[in-house]
Amino acid sequence: MSDKDKDSNSSSESEKFTVDNIPGVGPAMAAKLRRAGFYTFESLAITSVNELSEYAEIGERTASRIIELARRQLDLQFQTADEVLVTRSNILKISTGSESFDTLLGGGVEARSITELFGEFRSGKTQVCLQLALTTALSESKGGVGASVLYIDTEGTFRPERIIQMGQRYGLSEDEQNEILKKIIVGRAHNTDHQIALVAEAGQLIPSKNIKLLIVDSLTSHFRSEYVGRGTLVDRQQKLNRHIHQLLRLSEIYDMAIVVTNQVAAKIDNLVGGSIAPIGGHIVAHSCTTRVYLRKSKADRRIARIIDSPHLPENETVFLVTKGGIEDIKGEYLEES
Ligand SMILES: Nc1ncnc2c1ncn2[C@@H]1O[C@H](COP(=O)(O)OP(=O)(O)O)[C@@H](O)[C@H]1O
Ligand SMILES: [Mg+2]
Repeated sequence: MSDKDKDSNSSSESEKFTVDNIPGVGPAMAAKLRRAGFYTFESLAITSVNELSEYAEIGERTASRIIELARRQLDLQFQTADEVLVTRSNILKISTGSESFDTLLGGGVEARSITELFGEFRSGKTQVCLQLALTTALSESKGGVGASVLYIDTEGTFRPERIIQMGQRYGLSEDEQNEILKKIIVGRAHNTDHQIALVAEAGQLIPSKNIKLLIVDSLTSHFRSEYVGRGTLVDRQQKLNRHIHQLLRLSEIYDMAIVVTNQVAAKIDNLVGGSIAPIGGHIVAHSCTTRVYLRKSKADRRIARIIDSPHLPENETVFLVTKGGIEDIKGEYLEES
């Protein structure tokens, strides 16, 4: 198949690999799988029998059979590296508003993966999320994506006024401003169950709304406050693990970017230097595709550092959090040092 054919077929191609098209799995079972959050062959193929049986409320033998059927289909999906390269070169990248931050990320926040922003209080995590929501909703002619955003706010820090303020930098008319606000759909999560339910609901909402970015700010705050004490750690991590995998599934099925924020806590672990480490331990660390450590510098300066990425070097850059949003350091700053 030529590259051109592949492009024009990409939506029907991805349709082909949904749970409705597994030979041997009927429509009632497919609906059950969807309700449990499994939409694609991949999502089933990477699930354990126990997990599928529990989520979809089906017997273990049935679960095992479905996983086997999905895996069999997946064998057809091997691609050569040059084909993967073409797929990857078409991947959506969302601008952070700062060129140097985008460059650090290899062009912006990437679709089909989870980007984690972690850092201390006031390091700029929420500001970057708000800016990304704006650039996603912004029309293509202004350097945006022209798509919708789902914003799960767990800390009550989402501010539409701030999005309007940041929007002024792009010279938006009142109509354009209103259009952008209509494209950003906000869900306030009050606890971990609610947070997980919102993501399940997102699965229903995304296809009809052209959503290209899903933000969870913050991924871990409710988990941290609900599960206190060592005895609860295993339960917390299991629940968090499922939640992150649900997010990863959505990003793959709907070709969208997922951005989550995470706090840091005092720890003996020396991952990022000093004595702090992101919450969520190995579960979050291994499941997020790209991890960005944000820290405060002088005044409105912030430093972003790539900690873990499958294709980016460990590197860092400085950007600004200003009234206009996330911006590059101007010339005067560069001459300083
Ligand atoms: N309107 C604004 N103009 C300029 N800077 C702002 C504005 N709003 C917030 N900030 C900056 O962002 C910081 C808060 O960052 P935030 O993203 O909320 O941190 P967190 O990492 O805790 O989510 C503030 O301390 C301030 O420096
Ligand atoms: Mg915040």
